[in-house]
Amino acid sequence: MVQVEVASLRHVSEIVEVHHSDLGPLRAWTRGGWREASPEELDPCRWVLNGGPWMSVETCAIHINNLLLRGQTPMVALEGDRVVGEAELIVGDEGCRRGLVAHVSVIQVHRDFRGRGVGRALVESAVEATRDLGARTLTVVPEDEAKGFYGATGFRPAERWVEVDVSPGDLPDPKMEAGLASPDLEDFEGMELVVGRYQSGVDVALSLLERFAGCDVLGTGKFWTGAVEGVEFISHVRDVPFLGARIVYAWVRPSSRRERELEARLALSASLALAGSPVRTLVPEGLADQLRAARRRVVEFWAREVAP
Ligand SMILES: CC(C)(COP(=O)(O)OP(=O)(O)OC[C@H]1O[C@@H](n2cnc3c(N)ncnc32)[C@H](O)[C@@H]1OP(=O)(O)O)[C@@H](O)C(=O)NCCC(=O)NCCS
Repeated sequence: MVQVEVASLRHVSEIVEVHHSDLGPLRAWTRGGWREASPEELDPCRWVLNGGPWMSVETCAIHINNLLLRGQTPMVALEGDRVVGEAELIVGDEGCRRGLVAHVSVIQVHRDFRGRGVGRALVESAVEATRDLGARTLTVVPEDEAKGFYGATGFRPAERWVEVDVSPGDLPDPKMEAGLASPDLEDFEGMELVVGRYQSGVDVALSLLERFAGCDVLGTGKFWTGAVEGVEFISHVRDVPFLGARIVYAWVRPSSRRERELEARLALSASLALAGSPVRTLVPEGLADQLRAARRRVVEFWAREVAP
């Protein structure tokens, strides 16, 4: 019998075990590129590069702690006393178009416990929590191998975004004012992520605000805030050495009188001007169709409607 409850710090070492049950070959990043590595060679920062903050007790504790302190909902599935699965429900207000967005950013079941309803129990708990919070839609970004699971648990394809490599010359220079900023999570309230939407707006903000001391190997970035042709924005430009690319995210304060593609285009042109170099990012498919930029891949958002 599976029970789902909100995760706490006492679950951290077992959450790490759940995520470790799925590890492929380990890799270490050095200036010259990737190489194979043994577990003993990896410090907590290099473990993160092998599968996120859930890879070591040190970074997983910081991560779960941050989510709980921010009022978010990490969940564990228990069989008896044992943690056999973990999921993270991230909820935030993205303004007039999207409203309250509930997003499952992680779902992981221990390899030895798959195929017996643990994943479904985590999804149903996320749906219940979404309903309790008053949100109407639950979203996910499924890996290809997980699409069957999400189809079986009531999710359907809802939106397509396209990963592109864009250069400053690809868009006209915008009229804007911007300055460096150190935003906190509250500054993203009511803001919609219109560029770089690899997960939900709040989820991406949380992951960029999450820092591990001494872990520059994960990349370093700067936030900017400002206005571009009357649209308030927050932009993040990040050098990620292990991707060999400069990555951009941008949020806007949306207006129901403007189209999302227009706001995304303005926010992208502002971010490109701030980066001053080519960048890699995700844009809504409608905007990708207007750009000359090289398309790298499509990212699908799936959604499940949640009745009140
Ligand atoms: C995807 C995952 C969470 C599923 O968890 P699980 O506990 O094995 O799933 P369940 O047993 O609850 O399955 C629920 C339903 O999904 C179906 N399902 C599960 N995995 C499936 C797959 N890969 N393809 C098709 N259907 C699948 C099951 O058949 C079941 O359907 P049914 O109730 O109609 O028989 C688990 O395989 C996992 O942790 N995978 C690795 C991490 C991952 O891919 N996470 C998602 C990232 S987006």
